[in-house]
Amino acid sequence: MVTRALRRPTSTWTPERQAEAVLAVLRGDTSPELLAGAHDDVDAEDVRGWVARFLEAGARALEPARPEPRRAEPGRARAPARTSVMEPGDKRVCRDVTEAVGRTPLVRLNASVDHYAEVWAKLELMNPMGSIKDRVGRHLVERAAADGRLAPGGTLVEASSGNTAMGLGMMAAVRGYRCKVAVRDRTSAEKVRALRAIGVEVEVVPSDLPPEHPESYNRCMARIVRETPGCYFPDQHNNRENNEAHYLTTGPELWEQMDGRIDVLVCGMGTGGTIGGVARYLKEQDPGVRVVAVDPVGSVFHAWFHERRLGRPGSYRVEGLGDEALIDCVEWDLIDDVVQVSDREAFHAARDLARRDALFVGGSSGAALVGVRREIARLAGRPARIATVFPDGGRGYLSKLYDDAWLEAQGLH
Ligand SMILES: Cc1ncc(COP(=O)(O)O)c(C=O)c1O
Repeated sequence: MVTRALRRPTSTWTPERQAEAVLAVLRGDTSPELLAGAHDDVDAEDVRGWVARFLEAGARALEPARPEPRRAEPGRARAPARTSVMEPGDKRVCRDVTEAVGRTPLVRLNASVDHYAEVWAKLELMNPMGSIKDRVGRHLVERAAADGRLAPGGTLVEASSGNTAMGLGMMAAVRGYRCKVAVRDRTSAEKVRALRAIGVEVEVVPSDLPPEHPESYNRCMARIVRETPGCYFPDQHNNRENNEAHYLTTGPELWEQMDGRIDVLVCGMGTGGTIGGVARYLKEQDPGVRVVAVDPVGSVFHAWFHERRLGRPGSYRVEGLGDEALIDCVEWDLIDDVVQVSDREAFHAARDLARRDALFVGGSSGAALVGVRREIARLAGRPARIATVFPDGGRGYLSKLYDDAWLEAQGLH
């Protein structure tokens, strides 16, 4: 296609004008067909040819340079080898921020668990918007844009504890969409401010409305979708493309980083996307991996798993975990156990991680650590390699679990 486009003498467009057109297509502002339709002297094939040449040139520019290996001077001691986390050729140079999503570090827990326990955590705060949900935002938007559910310049709408909204907001900013989200009023002020900073329109919904109330968190989306003609609502709670994002990225990364040896996965469950996608990938590699979900007291998942009973939802303060109703992204058949964690346990565990291992993470990571500690107790000294996921960082909760006065006011100190 590239050479054909090069040979075609039809277009009189200057290279600058071609570059502008290519950028508009890559941003999703227009398609080659629409662009060509508006001009007599180009056709869609011309535009596709320019895009292909542009991408080829970009890929060539990003190819890692291979410097000649330096020879040590005879008679001089070599400098001590410095181990780098960066593999040769892995410069992490990105054409835009969405390419910086994923490939997060796996960090061993030391002082926050018993010294004999082998626990590794995937540090998802290292994603560009600061949480694991960047993976989901990117995947949901790319899938929908590819099959036409999301039109160029369209509007994304979603209900989120804040992190998915940041991931979608990232995609909206980079690819030229609008983004409107509903968050519960227990979402931290820092997160709401961060959303507005990247251009997301935020509607704050009361947390204490019963799930059947039309303005409750799970139901208000129906109104927002009605009020936003032509929008795309990914529906992260019921759309298994959410799980797929983790099946394609988080799961394989974890398996590779753990050298294919995992005995237990302990993971928080909000939409169920992370645990579903990661567990499916891990169990496909090794059906013996035990999968333990962590659920906050007040969520309905624990009673459903153990008693097939839908308990009365209660209020809790950990963000991102649990739900007041059953949702489709939870893949019950992949889960071997569900443990219940209180706000107090989760918040103090997060503070332990910050102070003992300098892992400055959010409350749901603290909840995951509580789940890990229960698993260590259950194993009663038997050796096991435990993997967990820390979904986001602590800065979003400075006014909450990291604030002594707030903890005290909540009766959680
Ligand atoms: C901070 C935090 N932790 C955990 C989760 C749970 O992840 P998942 O929705 O994949 O179950 C979320 C989801 O929004 C989150 O924001």
